[in-house]
Amino acid sequence: MNATQEKLKAQVEQALIAAFGADFAGVDPILVPASNPKFGDYQANVALSLSKKLGKQPRAIAGAIVEKLDVSEICEPPEIAGPGFINLKLKTAYLEAQLNAIQADPRLGVPAAKTPKREIVDFSSPNIAKEMHVGHLRSTIIGDSIARILEFLGHDVLRLNHVGDWGTQFGMLIAYLREVYPDALTTANALDIGDLVSFYRKAKLRFDTDEIFQETARQEVVRLQAGAEDTLHAWRLLCEQSRQEFQIIYELLDIKLTERGESFYNPLLPGVVEDLEKSGLLVENQGAKCVFLEGFTNREGEPLPLIVQKSDGGYNYATTDLASLSYRIQQDRAKRIIYVTDAGQGNHFAQFFQVARKAGWIPDDVELVHVPFGLVLGENGKRIQTRFGDSVRLRDLLDEAVSRAHADLKTRLQEEERQESEQFINEVARVVGISAVKYADLSQNRTSNYIFSYDKMLDFKGNTAPYMLYAYARIQGISRKGDINFEELGNNAVLLEHETELALAKYLLQLDEVISSVEQDLLPNRLCEYLYELSKKFNQFYDRNQGVQVLEAQEPQRTSRLVLCDLTARTLKLGLSLLGIQVLERM
Ligand code: ARG
Repeated sequence: MNATQEKLKAQVEQALIAAFGADFAGVDPILVPASNPKFGDYQANVALSLSKKLGKQPRAIAGAIVEKLDVSEICEPPEIAGPGFINLKLKTAYLEAQLNAIQADPRLGVPAAKTPKREIVDFSSPNIAKEMHVGHLRSTIIGDSIARILEFLGHDVLRLNHVGDWGTQFGMLIAYLREVYPDALTTANALDIGDLVSFYRKAKLRFDTDEIFQETARQEVVRLQAGAEDTLHAWRLLCEQSRQEFQIIYELLDIKLTERGESFYNPLLPGVVEDLEKSGLLVENQGAKCVFLEGFTNREGEPLPLIVQKSDGGYNYATTDLASLSYRIQQDRAKRIIYVTDAGQGNHFAQFFQVARKAGWIPDDVELVHVPFGLVLGENGKRIQTRFGDSVRLRDLLDEAVSRAHADLKTRLQEEERQESEQFINEVARVVGISAVKYADLSQNRTSNYIFSYDKMLDFKGNTAPYMLYAYARIQGISRKGDINFEELGNNAVLLEHETELALAKYLLQLDEVISSVEQDLLPNRLCEYLYELSKKFNQFYDRNQGVQVLEAQEPQRTSRLVLCDLTARTLKLGLSLLGIQVLERM
């Protein structure tokens, strides 16, 4: 709810009390955006809900409320419609004042959070010695956008990369490398990530088929956990190797993250089991220590256990997540912990959240949220793969987007007979390519699967990054063409007359509502939709036929319209920056 809506809500609440007495304090006025712009901007539907209680016709109730309702500063005189809706239409003068106010506000009317919170966003989180895959790409893009939005709202955000850097895979890998390529375990940069991944595959194959090797690998894990220097050194080298590869992706995508991998919590794992033991939740089941879960059953309908310590004494993914959870609450003082992973891990999160709750680790003021997302599919509707059936390397995927953007731009320049420097072309291609990939992901409701299509995401038409970037650049073009400095337009210039001006103006004022909805439901696609709709409203306003003249208009309209242009551009720039997308002044 934005400030205007809050003000109106408070006024209707007061009118209710004035009309029907103090008993009606706290009754929700049911103030909602109007279902149809014909009826104004907002409507209060409370009269309909009070009919029974008051034993009166809703229209009569609405009449009594309106009689006491003072919204004259904000609205035209309220109107009663249909069975008893109270319709409210914002005054043009009020809208003008609001726009003048956001023009002078670098935050464009989005207030900072009243009570800033410590929030953790756990995202990206690839695994060492494995390739970072498209699922990690989604997590990275969505998690980064959520973090940016929370940061903008003034929350104290800790961006954590829960890298999979611990566990049995290292036993396999180290045991295998000792045999086939011992140099890799002692010399930095002896391997690249491609080698690492293929060694990992071979090690896994060996592990699955060779019992003696299995034992050697297990011993290697024990040595690692016990801190044997040579094994630890090898482990560090492997991690470093992967980290360098991940870093390339983070730089391409402009992502900042604090690495705190699974290994960080290793010393805390025995404590997790002890604490669960103390709270009486732990059960021994076939040698493993586990907690039985409510609401999770196996095929036979028997309750399912969450294993926290395997029969061989080893810990697992869930144990680490339990340890990290309590660390994040106690040491990091997090009030909301947001985990961004594929929807396939939904059960994992529900399960260890439940165990932590049962153990009493989660204070009432701490919120745990799993932010799930769907799969990335190829154009054939199946999981995205290379022509050879391998999983796609993220670097290749991003490079491809950039090189296609590059080719598209060259064609466009030729068509427009424009000359641009190599540097300009490369920069535009980079921004367009990377933005297209990010935006294609963010603009989907994250819970659904989406089809990865270069053609679609690079299209200048539709809900795409290029469309949005173009709208921004087009507005900057207006300022270049008219030799106008948007920063020097002066204040209090807004004057709203034309229908398309009013529509654009009202839309510009909704940014704070959208951002606060994303703060709550963590769906960045809402922001994308908003920006897309805003660009469309702008294009209608600037349309030669249905819209208004801008540069050619007379004063005072000309300056007012330039302010609307500038506000649109700034809203696009801010909104896109919250999606991790950089704008271009020219493209
Ligand atoms: N490394 C995991 C994976 O690749 C994701 C970790 C997500 N974070 C967490 N706290 N479990 O699937």
